[in-house]
Amino acid sequence: MFIPIEKTNDKFKNYELLLETLPFYLNEGDPWYTTLSNASAMLNYFMDDINWVGFYKLEGEKLYLASFIGLPACTEIMLGRGVCGVSAAKKETLIVKDVHDFEGHIACDSNSQSEIVIPMIINAQLFGVLDIDSPVKNRFDDTDQQYLEAVVRVIVDKLS
Ligand code: SME
Repeated sequence: MFIPIEKTNDKFKNYELLLETLPFYLNEGDPWYTTLSNASAMLNYFMDDINWVGFYKLEGEKLYLASFIGLPACTEIMLGRGVCGVSAAKKETLIVKDVHDFEGHIACDSNSQSEIVIPMIINAQLFGVLDIDSPVKNRFDDTDQQYLEAVVRVIVDKLS
């Protein structure tokens, strides 16, 4: 059972709480979709000003929609296409301050204004990406990147 955790008004403290509690809701040996489902729920609980959080999983040359919270989204993305596909192809975190300025951005929710995508690497292989959208421009900064990369490390550790 999820025991509600007191959130604060401090986004860094909330990330610390997320990192502290996330491992208790992810089990080693569970199927990937179980792990990614609870990870989406925990991110959604602890993060403010977001309208979509979830995962795309690599299968062949495409990323396929996996566990998420938000409006229904595009089901598949070619590597190198959109923010997710570019992040996946480069195996690099991408922060997009204004999605309208990113050529090739794939709009799933018209409310989205900014976005961060973090690649998930398992044994040097791309597994998929974590994608988070915000209805606020310039929502994500270097600190979000550092914390979210740490969150992805916790998830990847449970999946490995
Ligand atoms: N905006 C993403 C597509 C996925 S949705 O945001 C959920 C992209 O450009 O890859």
